[in-house]
Amino acid sequence: MKLLVVNGPNLNMLGIREKHIYGDRDYDALCRYIREEAAKLGCEVELFQSNHEGAIVDRIQQAYFDGTEGIVINPAAYTHTSVAILDALKAVQLPAVEVHLSDVNAREEFRRLSYAGMACRAHFIGLGFEGYGRAMAWLVQAKG
Ligand code: DQA
Repeated sequence: MKLLVVNGPNLNMLGIREKHIYGDRDYDALCRYIREEAAKLGCEVELFQSNHEGAIVDRIQQAYFDGTEGIVINPAAYTHTSVAILDALKAVQLPAVEVHLSDVNAREEFRRLSYAGMACRAHFIGLGFEGYGRAMAWLVQAKG
């Protein structure tokens, strides 16, 4: 199965940013974890990170044309603001799963609203890196 994992703004700053919330492992460690879990699942995985909303929309659109069969997405702050990312996920109609490292429901009120989540079939929230592994496994299982 061919998967795309999309990470939004500031996730490239893992290991530096708000360690008490996101932990001290960096983005490279997250990428290694995702690649290892994908290999265990027998999946091909492409990782994409951007700090720019339009670049994320472009990459989701590209997934429609490049044979991607499932999307794991942590839109980071754009979760709570971006109708454009929601619409892109709806446009491509690929199975998508939402991931957040932290428990967004236990933080500030504004983090409870997820636009992208409205186009996602499953949600793994507050599980740290493990959420990405669980999300990929969910997509593999859903494909059957
Ligand atoms: C996040 C939660 C968001 O609210 C925040 O803006 C992030 C990271 C998470 O993975 O916990 O940047 O998506």
